Amino acid sequence: MSFKVQDYYFKKAKKENFLARSIYKLEEIDLKYGIIKKGENVLDLGYHPGSWMQYTSKKVGEEGSVVGIDIRPLNKKLLPIKNIRIFEMDIFDVDDLSMLGVDKPFDTVVSDMAPNTTGVRSVDQARSLNLIEQVFYHLPVFLKDGGNFVIKVFDGHEAQVFLKSQKHRFKEFHFLKPKSTRSVSKEFFAIGKGFIKDEE
Ligand SMILES: C[S@@+](CC[C@H](N)C(=O)[O-])C[C@H]1O[C@@H](n2cnc3c(N)ncnc32)[C@H](O)[C@@H]1O
Repeated sequence: MSFKVQDYYFKKAKKENFLARSIYKLEEIDLKYGIIKKGENVLDLGYHPGSWMQYTSKKVGEEGSVVGIDIRPLNKKLLPIKNIRIFEMDIFDVDDLSMLGVDKPFDTVVSDMAPNTTGVRSVDQARSLNLIEQVFYHLPVFLKDGGNFVIKVFDGHEAQVFLKSQKHRFKEFHFLKPKSTRSVSKEFFAIGKGFIKDEE
């Protein structure tokens, strides 16, 4: 059985016509660290239902664009937004940017992806870590040199160890648990600014 906790941020999102309460997490991160700028091209991994797409498409404006990928069916509510494109696919099936109709890596990549959870903590943590490792592994395909990155992480010792091993790939690396994250939640966000792309 699933149910929605109708808390302050849930009601605020509904009132302000956002598709999910997650909008306030990205907004706080962006206000604090200046992740998304006007005119940029942004990639949103695991966009569905699309509140981060609503936020970023407005922030980048008409000269910018936002591409969203999710394994869930396309959310038609987003289709009226002009500067976005959405794809129904597994992000790990994308090995070439031409599959997304672009020819150069994105200025900013954001990921709010979460694996299917089982309720068994060790299994959920392992699945989450696997997802995060895969995203970091694929980052050079998606993100330009000097670009910015945001990713959701479920806390755990191994996730902490892995993130520490990735810090050197960015000029700045931060962690934040946004105010709108439920206090019982183990999630936080890692924020990387100034991606250092290895030229191998
Ligand atoms: C918490 S939701 C994202 C909410 C979104 N940020 C918003 O503001 O509306 C996480 C999404 O990640 C997607 N996801 C998980 N694994 C994925 C994968 N391998 N490829 C694409 N999407 C994935 C799920 O289908 C789910 O829709």
